[in-house]
Amino acid sequence: ELGPYSHFMQKEIHEQPKALSDTIEAVLENGFAAGLFGARAAELLPQVEGVKILACGTSYYAGLTAKYWIESIAGISCDVEIASEYRYRAAFANPKHLVVTISQSGETLDTMEALKYAKELGHTMALSICNVRESAIPRASELVFYTRAGAEIGVASTKAFTTQLVGLFALAVTLGKQRGRVDAAAEHGYQEALRQLPGSVQHALNLEPQIKAWSDKFAAKQNALFLGRGLHYPIALEGALKLKEISYIHAEAYPAGELKHGPLALVDESMPVVVIAPNDALLEKVKSNMQEVRARGGELFVFADLDSHFSESDGVHVIRTPRHVGVLSAIVHTIPVQLLAYHVALARGTDVDKPRNLAKSVTVE
Ligand code: F6R
Repeated sequence: ELGPYSHFMQKEIHEQPKALSDTIEAVLENGFAAGLFGARAAELLPQVEGVKILACGTSYYAGLTAKYWIESIAGISCDVEIASEYRYRAAFANPKHLVVTISQSGETLDTMEALKYAKELGHTMALSICNVRESAIPRASELVFYTRAGAEIGVASTKAFTTQLVGLFALAVTLGKQRGRVDAAAEHGYQEALRQLPGSVQHALNLEPQIKAWSDKFAAKQNALFLGRGLHYPIALEGALKLKEISYIHAEAYPAGELKHGPLALVDESMPVVVIAPNDALLEKVKSNMQEVRARGGELFVFADLDSHFSESDGVHVIRTPRHVGVLSAIVHTIPVQLLAYHVALARGTDVDKPRNLAKSVTVE
């Protein structure tokens, strides 16, 4: 069943080009049209005036990424909340807002209860982004987008996350199109970006030997920091979560601009700092945050792309993903942080597919 791979997690990381192409195929066949989200979408999506995303864990980070796309591409306000927080607070419900739940399993109790609670508060439109057909959450939702990742067995979510991002990107473009914010040329650009994505992800997977070579530098550490800005900040969060859950190294992620507001105090020679630094509009800002780290002796591990123009120097290690891929760069940059967590866990000898204290489907509070 594992083929050439040592663990389900490694297999599932490598299945991403296929999982993504399968999910993208559904999007391209439909062409960013309401039908992508179920029979009632043509009636409901045009009424949407805002988006509220509810999810847990890695799926919550997919939601944080989606916020950037929904606000910039669709021009609709979007807030993202952890399901277990939302369900216990006296929240404000605007019935014109679409509730979007994101859940690989479709059975996560907190997400399910948050959805029920949203309905009690007066929401009438809910969309489920889910990987398991006919599971509880899509059954309780008016609209659904099924990711086509295939069964995910490793406890740490990998291919489910990147395919969720495709579904959420498709939602942003579809809403943008309906609102006249995405013209034919822009739509064509988004289609092309999706078509190129599996190939770029494959290039990132080919970096595995280089990433593995870094793993020894992390294996003996107690802590790690992950930094990113903009669309790459949620990817830094995802990288930190992956590292802590499977290698048991304490890892935290910050938007790089927050460094000076506190976490910089943690940085010294013993703190590895992973930076996600592709050549987007924020790169110069990220570079100055990197200097702040180097000035305190922190060792930098940088995931850049070919256009970021970094050079290795003392205490600065750089791995380059392919050319900058634009709006979907966050998906491509997920691959190296998954591989880093996987190889650090291997170096530490932990149970990669079944990390201690965790379950694949969290059906308890
Ligand atoms: C982390 C991980 C968890 C899940 C979370 C939600 O790698 O897998 O954080 O993302 O338990 O699960 P789903 O998406 O099934 O609702």
